[in-house]
Amino acid sequence: MSKNNAGRIVANLNNKRLLLGVTGGIAAYKSADLVRRLQDEGADVRVAMTSAATQFITPLTMQALSGHPVHLNLMDAETESVMSHIELARWADIVLVAPATADFIARFVFGHGDDLLSTICLAATCPVAIAPAMNQAMWAKPNTQSNMEALAKMEVTVLAPEAGIQACGESGVGRLMEPAKIVTCLVQMFQNSLLAGKHLVITAGPTREAIDPVRYISNRSSGKQGYALATAAIEAGAVVTLITGPTHLPRPERARVIEVVTAEEMLAATMSCIQDADAFIGVAAVADYRPAGIAEQKLKKEGASCMRLELIRNPDILATVAASPSRPFTVGFAAETEELVKHASAKLKKKQVDMIIANDVADTSIGFDAEDNQVTLFISEAVMSKTVMSEAFTPESPQQLPRMSKDALARKLITIIAAAMAGP
Ligand code: C5P
Repeated sequence: MSKNNAGRIVANLNNKRLLLGVTGGIAAYKSADLVRRLQDEGADVRVAMTSAATQFITPLTMQALSGHPVHLNLMDAETESVMSHIELARWADIVLVAPATADFIARFVFGHGDDLLSTICLAATCPVAIAPAMNQAMWAKPNTQSNMEALAKMEVTVLAPEAGIQACGESGVGRLMEPAKIVTCLVQMFQNSLLAGKHLVITAGPTREAIDPVRYISNRSSGKQGYALATAAIEAGAVVTLITGPTHLPRPERARVIEVVTAEEMLAATMSCIQDADAFIGVAAVADYRPAGIAEQKLKKEGASCMRLELIRNPDILATVAASPSRPFTVGFAAETEELVKHASAKLKKKQVDMIIANDVADTSIGFDAEDNQVTLFISEAVMSKTVMSEAFTPESPQQLPRMSKDALARKLITIIAAAMAGP
């Protein structure tokens, strides 16, 4: 934990979902301490153990500490029905294997998928960190070392073992990195400086448009994706103003939060703070219409078999920002239930934005209120022509990102947005 500028204690892994893989080495006993330390930093920890790991520390210990059933078998119908290996891989914001034996590392490098943990690592789209622990002679062997080089090429973070007396009585490099240090490295993995010095304004959540003192029109937006983007932007060094409609989510640490209810309030708040913004990301599900008038008293149903509500258009916040003089880099979202490519590319042009992030909300396992999301990116020709992204994107083939947790997706999107903002 650390203190922020206001002197408040900050849990640096707050809301992060961490899958801890434990393999069969004597250092497995340290993974119990690791679970506690990760939880102290705010992480939600789930544990997957290889069968050899259970010889060193019991699943019951790890279950009691993590507060979740431990995942042990790939082919266990009961466990798989609770959360399959693919769902676990998707659930995680990061997979940490600590301790990782020489055998596990070799199997991971060669893409084995013959037990639960190796399959999760293979299926993971989030960052993977490996903390090796083994006898010093095993660590020094050329084949182990070439496996470590292979891990680096796979963009796996290696939390290098330390030197010292080993359980076998020998002395040398191979001891598991101390749990406190592992936690510090993980915190650093979530921090980067891609947006250092930049100011991002992000809208999130639904808006509510009152009909009378007790009723309103709204939508199913939970705010999760917008809040995750705010957190990812803060982790990337940005100053973030989060303009939020009503949600039940905890406010992201270190964001300047402006709470609004209606689309008109959201527009006013947005326009008041985009002058000095470097980017605007409109994630909010803004109600397109609002009642033409708000009844002063609760509307009565007596005698009426139907009721007519006159609705008028709300302002389009995203299009207003995009049309403003010296506008910031402008990104919109598009929730579609059909013909995603057609509608999203039309929105990119009509609203004159730099990027549209589209998702298919007809699939209820992603998008609105879901834990996961899966999006397709559409980038304006102007941005494409002056950024390094041009190789990956063409208007005809927008880029589809794999399905992942909203937190993992937010970090991926921030990386892409930062690259597009930076230019060539
Ligand atoms: O046109 P559509 O509502 O699908 O566009 C979605 C995008 O436009 C989102 O980025 C949303 O935040 C933004 N929007 C807006 N103001 C509106 C409607 C949508 O800023 N009134």
